[in-house]
Amino acid sequence: MKILFLNGPNLNLLGQREPGVYGSQTLTDIEAAVRARAAQVQVEVDFRQSNLEGELVTWIQSARGTFQAIVLNAAAYTHTSIALRDAISAVGVPTIEIHLSNIYAREEFRHESMIAPVCRGQISGFGAQSYLLGLEAALFIK
Ligand code: DQA
Repeated sequence: MKILFLNGPNLNLLGQREPGVYGSQTLTDIEAAVRARAAQVQVEVDFRQSNLEGELVTWIQSARGTFQAIVLNAAAYTHTSIALRDAISAVGVPTIEIHLSNIYAREEFRHESMIAPVCRGQISGFGAQSYLLGLEAALFIK
């Protein structure tokens, strides 16, 4: 099984970005934890980050046929991107939406997710652990 982890804008700044909200781990730390768990359960992971909406769309499109699941932290694009939603829907690769923070406990503009209706489920609010829970969810739905 191959799982594609995708990270949206500003997640490259984890560790220094609002640590009170997002924690002190960097994206590289989180990737290492995901890879360690993936090795235990013998699945392959690809882990990518982009600040560009179109690049994320292209990666989702190219997942078909290669990856059995996508674990997606779309960051701010969660709340705005019909393009990401359409890509998830078009490609049909089961996608799990994840967030470090609990988006429902924050500003009202974060309460709406454009992508939630086309994702298999959502994990929100468990810090870096959300990524590991995302991996478990991907294993569960495979
Ligand atoms: C986030 C939540 C989003 O609202 C925010 O724009 C992010 C990160 C999270 O992981 O908690 O950049 O997706």
